[in-house]
Amino acid sequence: MRVFDFDHAIVRRPGRSVVNGLRKGPDAPTYEGVLQEHDAYVAALRAAGLSVDVLPPLEAFADSVFVEDPALVFGEGAILLRPGVASRLGEAEKMRPVLERHFDRVLELEGEQYADGGDVLVTSDEVFIGLSKRTNRTGAEALAQKLKALGRKARVAETPRDILHFKTASSILDEHTVMATRTMADSGVFSGLKVLVVPDGEEGAANFLRLNDTVLVGARYPRTIEMLQKAGFNAKPMPVTEINKIDAGLSCMSLRWKARG
Ligand code: GLY
Repeated sequence: MRVFDFDHAIVRRPGRSVVNGLRKGPDAPTYEGVLQEHDAYVAALRAAGLSVDVLPPLEAFADSVFVEDPALVFGEGAILLRPGVASRLGEAEKMRPVLERHFDRVLELEGEQYADGGDVLVTSDEVFIGLSKRTNRTGAEALAQKLKALGRKARVAETPRDILHFKTASSILDEHTVMATRTMADSGVFSGLKVLVVPDGEEGAANFLRLNDTVLVGARYPRTIEMLQKAGFNAKPMPVTEINKIDAGLSCMSLRWKARG
């Protein structure tokens, strides 16, 4: 199954508060810089053939441009998650109206079940749910049940320590292959899949985004781009310097799905 084939996406324009997005590093991004990177991202989604819904900014939620953390979507339905950090928990409710517009089935986590979409990697055979500081076991197990209800098999896995999200360090490249950082690859978590490793010093490149026949990759990672191009992939460099400052990458700025039928 080509789980990277999409025809729809939802994104949210960054608000000015994005400069206060959660981060481990010392430097905040600029609002103008994030906006430019977001505009380029939306253009790349459209160029790859997706129809894109652009939601308005939510100033009360600094990280709300990262719409993939509070929700998950599939052709079969959507799941409202419960982000595992207090400042982001309210983002899920803000996603409800757009999900209800697009999907007949909207499932949801509840109570002490916490999971961020950044910890969810969809492969052809199963859906990895990474345990992390944002995704607890109760949340992961509840999410596995919701995925089962949508016809997807889940595998709960460990995210290496010090990595924010499972997809910070790994992405799906094709039906059989993931590409990951050395730490993630060596953890053995991807048994049964082919694993390519990003070049040393380009760990941030492991968060890329396969969209139909295009692979969006951070322009800051030229050796990864060259590696993918040599392997025959249509790797498109994307500006990510500002969003990387708030510990984010290409996958978390959209929800993507292929409509059924
Ligand atoms: N700044 C992205 C996050 O921490 O969720």
